[in-house]
Amino acid sequence: MLKIAVIIGSLRKESFNRKLAMALDKLSHPTLTLFYPKVDDIPLYNQEFDNNLPNEVVRFKKEIADADGVLIVTPEYNRSIPGFLKNLIDWGTRPYGQNVWARKPLAALGTSPGVIGTAVAQSHLRSIMVAIDAVMFGLPEIYLVYKDDLINDQFEFTQESTRKLMQSFLDQFAKRTEDYSYSLQSDIG
Ligand SMILES: Cc1cc2nc3c(=O)[nH]c(=O)nc-3n(C[C@H](O)[C@H](O)[C@H](O)COP(=O)(O)O)c2cc1C
Repeated sequence: MLKIAVIIGSLRKESFNRKLAMALDKLSHPTLTLFYPKVDDIPLYNQEFDNNLPNEVVRFKKEIADADGVLIVTPEYNRSIPGFLKNLIDWGTRPYGQNVWARKPLAALGTSPGVIGTAVAQSHLRSIMVAIDAVMFGLPEIYLVYKDDLINDQFEFTQESTRKLMQSFLDQFAKRTEDYSYSLQSDIG
């Protein structure tokens, strides 16, 4: 089983991206265990604390370090990623030399009521993650236009076509992460 940390880029309770992230867990994923690290208590990044990280950050970094892969489910804010998400990413890279994202398999998805469905945010995210040595796969990727009836109160996709699309996303991510983990073991072996 691969442990996958699912990070949600929105703090709001009724977040569409939170619903999307929760709906992922309702799909079939025989080789993945999804978990949702607590992120709503992470303070704003301050370099003064690089060598004395706040406990919440230590906890967050440990959860990412222990994960076999990461899924980021994020909204788009002003054609980029939310500052909240960038803050998490920045903490994860510090102190210098202890970057928790390095060599971490990663994919992103997101939903927005707008027609580009978070495409620009994901493109920005990609350039950040490459710069900090995360292994963000080219595929799969999902840009989902949010509609009120996309996901029901039980966190299920209401349309069979969406469910299939999301299942395929998860299957591809599982395969890519397994292949990558295997190649890392071969490196070491
Ligand atoms: C500060 C801010 C900036 C936004 N910028 C964009 C944008 O660039 N593109 C977009 O599609 N939606 C944008 N939106 C609308 C969001 O997609 C919408 O608020 C969405 O519900 C946020 O995701 P959430 O429901 O997961 O919190 C923006 C919303 C906010 C609050």
